[in-house]
Amino acid sequence: MSDTTTIVIFGASGDLTKRKLVPALYNLYRKDRLPEQINIVGNSRTKFSHEEWRERMREGVEEFSESSFDQKDWDEFSQFLWYEPGDASKKKDMAQLQEFIQEKEGGAANRMYYLSVAPDLYAPIVQNIGAMDMAKSEDGWCRIVIEKPFGTDLESAQELNREVHEVFDESQVYRIDHYLGKETAQNIMFLRFANAIFEPVWNRNYVDSVQITASETVDVGHRGDYYDSSGVFRDMFQNHLLQLLTLIAMEPPPSFDADLMRNEKVKLLKSVRPIDILDTVAAQYEGYLDTKGVDPHSHTPTYGAIKLHIDNWRWQGVPFYLRSGKGLSRKVTEINVVFRQPPHRMFDNDHISDFKSNSLSICVQPDEGIHLTFEAKEPDTAHNSRSVDMEFHYADSFGKSAIPEAYERLLLDALLGDASLFSRSDGIEAAWELMDPIIEGWESDGAAEPSTYKLGSEGPQAADELLGDDGRVWRVGCLHDDC
Ligand code: BG6
Repeated sequence: MSDTTTIVIFGASGDLTKRKLVPALYNLYRKDRLPEQINIVGNSRTKFSHEEWRERMREGVEEFSESSFDQKDWDEFSQFLWYEPGDASKKKDMAQLQEFIQEKEGGAANRMYYLSVAPDLYAPIVQNIGAMDMAKSEDGWCRIVIEKPFGTDLESAQELNREVHEVFDESQVYRIDHYLGKETAQNIMFLRFANAIFEPVWNRNYVDSVQITASETVDVGHRGDYYDSSGVFRDMFQNHLLQLLTLIAMEPPPSFDADLMRNEKVKLLKSVRPIDILDTVAAQYEGYLDTKGVDPHSHTPTYGAIKLHIDNWRWQGVPFYLRSGKGLSRKVTEINVVFRQPPHRMFDNDHISDFKSNSLSICVQPDEGIHLTFEAKEPDTAHNSRSVDMEFHYADSFGKSAIPEAYERLLLDALLGDASLFSRSDGIEAAWELMDPIIEGWESDGAAEPSTYKLGSEGPQAADELLGDDGRVWRVGCLHDDC
C-alpha cells in the first residue's frame, strides 16, 4: 500500500469546505490522525492561488473549528493544502487536475474524492473521474465520498447509483449523512448493545411508542432556492430522521462490520409499513413564501410529522412518531422511548392521572446525553408520585470539549476504510421508497395546502393532533432547566 494519500475536494470554494471539511481535517491533523504524507487538493471553478485558498481556509478554521486556533499547527497543516481551479464536469479540466495531483503525489498514492458540489454535478464529475481512469489505484485504495442529497426521489437515486457504479465499485462509495457522525447517534449502538439492561425491554412488550424530534430555530435563510425544491421530507426525513430510526429500531448486528450493520438497517427500513398520507402532517412557517428563491405559491413544507409502523416481531403495534421543522422555538434533536404503564395500579389516590409513563430520552443535541424519567414518591405525602430524572451528560462525564464535530469522525472513517457510518445504495433507495409517496401526497399538483405555523412556535397544531388522536403527547425529555 502506498504511504501517500490525496484528498481531492470538489466544490472547494463552497461553504461546506470552509465551515466543516477543512476545519475537521485540521483537527484530525492536530490529533495526529491524518496520514503522514498527505495532499489536500481543492478544486472548483473559482480562481484562487494556493495561498488565497489557504487564507480562506484559515478563516474557516479560525471561525468554525471546534478546537482553538493554533498558528504553529496551522502553518504546518496548511503546507498540505493545494488548489487547482477548473470545472471538473469538463474532461479537459479533469485531465489538468489529474496532472496536477500526479505531480504532487510523485508516484502511487491512495485517493479520496469528496463531492461537495451541487448535486447535478455528481454524475458528470464521477463520469470524468472514470474517463480519466482516476477511479483506481494500482498500489493503494481509491474512494469517493458523496454528500447529500443523494437523489431527489427513488428514481433519481437509482439512476445516480447506476451512474456511480459504472465507475466505482460499491465498496469504494461513502454516502455521507452527518447525523451518523454525531457522537450521540453512534452512542445509540453502545446504549443498546454494550449494556444488558436495555435490550430486554426494547420491544413491543415494554415500549408504548417511540418519538424522534429534530427541531430547528433557524429558518431557510439564504437557501430558499435549494429548500423550495427540497422541503422537510427530503431535507431531514429521508436521511437524518430515518437513520436515527434505524439505529433505534434495528436488530443487533453480529458485529460492527460495515456490511453487517447496514444489512440490519436496510432490513429495518424494508420492514416499515408504507406510510399512510393520513398519518402525516405538513406545514409551512408564516413568511416562508416571502423568502428569496421561494415560489410565492409554493406548497413546500418546512415542518413535517409522521406516524409509522414497523411490521416485524419486535415492534408490531408500537407507533413511531417522527417530526422535524424549521423556525421553531428550540434547537433540539432527541429520541424518546416511551414505556408502557404498569399493568396494575395499586396506588389509590386522586393524583393517578399524574402518573407518567417512564421514558428514556436520548439527547442527540445540543446538550448531548441520556435521561431516564421514572416515577418517585413525593416526600411527605401518602401516595402522590412525581416524575424524576436520572441524567447522563457527556459534558459532565467526558468534559465540555470531548465531542468532536461529526465530519471529523466521518472523514477519518472514510480514510480508514470503515463504511459502517455511511449509507449503502440499497439503504438510500429503501429510504426514498418510504418518502416518495409522502412527498407526492403533499407536493404534487392539486395537493392540499399545507397548514401554517408561527415562527418561533412549537409547530402546527395538526402535529399535536397526530399523537393526541392516539391519546399521546409529544415528549420533551432533554430540556431541563440545566440544559
Ligand atoms: C442538513 C439540512 O442536512 O441538516 C439542513 O440540509 C439542516 O437544512 C441541517 O439545517 C441540520 O443539521 P444539524 O447538525 O444542525 O442538526
